[in-house]
Amino acid sequence: MKPADTQATLSFSNGRPSIDLPVYGGSIGPDVIDIRKLYAQTGMFTYDPGFLSTASCQSSITYIDGDKGELLYRGYPIEQLATHCDFLETCHLLLYSTLPDVAGKADFVKRVTNHTMVNEQMQFFLRGFRRDAHPMAIMTGLVGALSAFYHDSTDIHNPEHRDISAIRLIAKMPTLVAMAYKYSAGQPYMYPRNSLSYAGNFLHMMFANPCEEYVVNPVLERALDRIFILHADHEQNASTSTVRLCGSSGTNPFAAIAAGVACLWGPAHGGANEACLNMLEDIQKMGGVAKVGEFMNQVKDKNSGVKLMGFGHRVYKNYDPRAKLMQETCREVLVALGLENDPLFKLAMALEKIALEDDYFVQRKLYPNVDFYSGIVQRAIGIPTSLFTAVFALARTVGWIAQLNEMIGDPEYKIGRPRQLFTGSTQRDVLPISQR
Ligand code: CMC
Repeated sequence: MKPADTQATLSFSNGRPSIDLPVYGGSIGPDVIDIRKLYAQTGMFTYDPGFLSTASCQSSITYIDGDKGELLYRGYPIEQLATHCDFLETCHLLLYSTLPDVAGKADFVKRVTNHTMVNEQMQFFLRGFRRDAHPMAIMTGLVGALSAFYHDSTDIHNPEHRDISAIRLIAKMPTLVAMAYKYSAGQPYMYPRNSLSYAGNFLHMMFANPCEEYVVNPVLERALDRIFILHADHEQNASTSTVRLCGSSGTNPFAAIAAGVACLWGPAHGGANEACLNMLEDIQKMGGVAKVGEFMNQVKDKNSGVKLMGFGHRVYKNYDPRAKLMQETCREVLVALGLENDPLFKLAMALEKIALEDDYFVQRKLYPNVDFYSGIVQRAIGIPTSLFTAVFALARTVGWIAQLNEMIGDPEYKIGRPRQLFTGSTQRDVLPISQR
């Protein structure tokens, strides 16, 4: 880390001596105050629940400027990647820091496609779930179970193990998500088809069946690939931080990624795409666009507990750049499928327009996030609502593994072990049960 020009001085109002703290600068973004020696020097911790002001690591993978609404993967703007690259090129970039050339891409694609099948035993493991199990419950189990199938790549301190497990996870996630779907639909699993693109193969495993020829629709293939690119990484979000914390104990990569899947499931994070589509469907049932005003009043009423799902973000205080690209893709897909008048898309546009003009949202800088339109695209593609978050997990796997591998390679890495402000009872004695 580069020392910044300034030092921070921490002074106390009770006469305790002040201390100087080093300040470091990144290549862009806010400087950080290094508080690692704070406890040794003062006997005090810092207090920051929810990490509102805490940088938990240094990273060179993804940069977000929340005020500008800017997202860069390894320095490249998301708009350029979504327009000029495909998902596997983006994976190469996130994992190895460079966009591949033609030969490098061919090699990487070959390495990934060589690993798209999963161990045949996996289907028996899957069979233990109820048919109506939520796909994220299944995914948490299946991804964790990979560590029981691939014993030769579980040593997180071995760079070759880390690399092969990264490739395996990226290659197998679409197969696992499609298997979870086929299991719930009561249809036979479709083996991966390696002549297809990454997104095309996922569509094939999801929607083909052994009885008929399935032809991949190029518009849907491109839309899905864009969904994958837009969700590939997002710096230190809740699930990525979970993967880092879980992996910091030295556990195997599959276990760490399973922890990320579990965290992503929540409606404040990856589960928002499912929650957003359910919300749109509920408003539609209530009366659609005509009921938007009534719904907005509920959202603004703090006692109602109703949130406008797909709106707001911890980091973006401007339009999420991914939401803009997703809205564009949404239009393309609906036009290609002859669904231009899709009532849920119209409803989403009406909600967005009202929210962007409403004081409640303007004052709090609440804008649409990536999940606002991704559910409409996925639904148009034919992906069931309950599978949306699993598709997000599929795409985010590369980000998780890139961040995990970066952490393990960082000489400053230590097991993650937050501190606390204890507010419970001080020491007391246990009374015999008859006297309690
Ligand atoms: N609808 C209504 N009010 C909201 C919303 C919303 N979607 N989001 C934030 N607010 C209000 C919140 O009530 C608070 O108001 P006040 O200052 O009066 O108490 C203010 O805006 C600040 O919100 P916050 O909850 O302190 O912000 P946060 O950074 O802790 O939470 C968030 C961020 C994403 C969890 C939240 O905006 C939210 O729950 N949004 C809906 C769920 C969603 O769309 N999540 C997907 C995030 S993007 C995909 C991903 O990365 O997973």
